[in-house]
Amino acid sequence: MHKSLDSIQLIDIPKISDPDGRGNLSVIEKKILPYEIKRVYYLYDVPSDSSRGGHAHIELQQFLIALSGSFDVVLDNGLERKVYTLNRPNKGLLIPNGIWRELDNFSAGAVCLSLVSDVYKESDYLRDYNDFKSYTKTTD
Ligand code: TYD
Repeated sequence: MHKSLDSIQLIDIPKISDPDGRGNLSVIEKKILPYEIKRVYYLYDVPSDSSRGGHAHIELQQFLIALSGSFDVVLDNGLERKVYTLNRPNKGLLIPNGIWRELDNFSAGAVCLSLVSDVYKESDYLRDYNDFKSYTKTTD
């Protein structure tokens, strides 16, 4: 089944600005995500000409945040693509399962935080784009 790209959501992360000008604090609580966070990891020191991702997940859901700097997230449901630029620590991108993603165009100092719905399982990955395309067709 081809997941609709409308199932991808940019979510506002609540921001608490300090009244005395001491900066901002953002908090992610369970209620802003449709799953319980099972694992947290982050990408950093990514060269500007490198790309990350290049896979889809069968079950895993993911929430990405640019904690610092910026990067692009290219999302593909097997039929169409959509690009999001993440560049604010109080906006997160919710990516459901069954969507191919590529992350590129990392700025210097960019940090990509990833909050995901499951432990690491290589068996949940589709790492070949043609396998992903076949997968989206066979599950119609
Ligand atoms: P991968 O998910 O392919 O990274 P990206 O999509 O960001 O390019 O993971 C890169 C390597 O790290 C791969 O060998 C698997 C390993 N890895 C873990 O061992 N545990 C993890 O939680 C993650 C996300 C990756």
